[in-house]
Amino acid sequence: MIDSLLNGANRWALQTFSRDWVDYLVSNTMTEFNRRINPFVWSYQLQALLLAVHDEADGVKTFVLLPNQHWRDWQAGQHAEFVVEINGAQHRRYYSLAQRENGCVSITVKRVADGLVSNWIHQHWLPGKVIRLGLPQGSFVYRQQPKLLFICAGSGITPCHSIAQALLQQGVVVDIAFDAQFRHETDMIFASSLRDWAREEGLNTNIALSQPRQSCANVVKPLDADELRRRYPDFAGRDIYLCGPQGFMDKTIALLQQAGFDLARLHCERFAGGTWEADAGVGEACEEIVFQHLNQRVQLDTEDAGKTLMQIAERHHVPLEIGCRQGMCGTCKLMLRQGKVSGNTLGNAVYLCSAYPASRRVVLDA
Ligand SMILES: Cc1cc2nc3c(=O)[nH]c(=O)nc-3n(C[C@H](O)[C@H](O)[C@H](O)COP(=O)(O)OP(=O)(O)OC[C@H]3O[C@@H](n4cnc5c(N)ncnc54)[C@H](O)[C@@H]3O)c2cc1C
Ligand code: FES
Repeated sequence: MIDSLLNGANRWALQTFSRDWVDYLVSNTMTEFNRRINPFVWSYQLQALLLAVHDEADGVKTFVLLPNQHWRDWQAGQHAEFVVEINGAQHRRYYSLAQRENGCVSITVKRVADGLVSNWIHQHWLPGKVIRLGLPQGSFVYRQQPKLLFICAGSGITPCHSIAQALLQQGVVVDIAFDAQFRHETDMIFASSLRDWAREEGLNTNIALSQPRQSCANVVKPLDADELRRRYPDFAGRDIYLCGPQGFMDKTIALLQQAGFDLARLHCERFAGGTWEADAGVGEACEEIVFQHLNQRVQLDTEDAGKTLMQIAERHHVPLEIGCRQGMCGTCKLMLRQGKVSGNTLGNAVYLCSAYPASRRVVLDA
């Protein structure tokens, strides 16, 4: 009862006044008493109140969250780290953010078979729950390109859908095409939204099923070289945003490479990590790394041998954004403009925390 009254009051305050104002008021009245009575806003910690849960597809739920005053502006396509406590142990996972009305955000979580956190979230996150999260991060965002093609599979649709939705809502004039792949009919996430965009906005959207259980109207077959040219004859003139399971991404990148697509215009988001070593014998010793977007140049010394690009950057005080350090979140991702690297790359994207220089000179850019 008290909890629901407090939640209502917090919600009203955060949705009626700006977060800066709430922060000002709360930080000037931060007492032990207030912190005990209402630890959601009288807190130095970023937290979110779970307002609603919607079923999206089989094993997929959307959670609508109202973050407290410590939240900051973010861009569609970014994600946040969520801290989930299970049996006294803390687990951290990332989920892509989508914009909602009244200062809310949502995340869409797909249950992973035997997955610890995704299953726990599905069972235990109920409206009224207070959730710990980190600030938005990641560079899988729109960069003012005139023509886009989103290619995604499974839960990889979440950041792509978020970017397209934000562009449509903001009325940004951009030519959007959207290709989403799922396994079965019951796995389809945001399918009605894609169909609405096709009908109401005239977008070229396609939904493919890799293992349809029955003949299903309005779906196409998975993308291959012929389908790429047929569905998106102008694909070479688009920036492509790609997100999905690793096998799907590898296949799509190979397909695009074979089709002669310029990988500098490919933007990828990866959902699962891995282990990456420097490829022994690949390339030559690196002498110089240029961070073009920061206008900064690093001359390497013997201490840099065997280090990741991020470790080298840190040794030489290059101010980079850092996230998981495990090759997953994409916060450290830069584009390779010249030279060679080994380790964790996707197309021309280089995950600095898990990639290594492999040529005398490496040039990176945002
Ligand atoms: C930048 C980023 C954004 C993300 N956004 C979303 C999102 O919007 N929605 C969403 O549902 N997930 C998203 N994820 C994935 C999410 O963070 C978790 O990895 C996922 O929910 C699985 O966690 P788990 O604890 O249930 O599985 P774990 O217990 O960590 O893993 C169980 C098994 O599943 C495998 N596995 C882990 N993740 C996946 C995956 N995504 N697909 C298939 N197999 C996997 C593991 O290798 C392991 O074998 C994102 C990940 C990153 C890095
Ligand atoms: S991918 Fe997360 S910091 Fe590099």
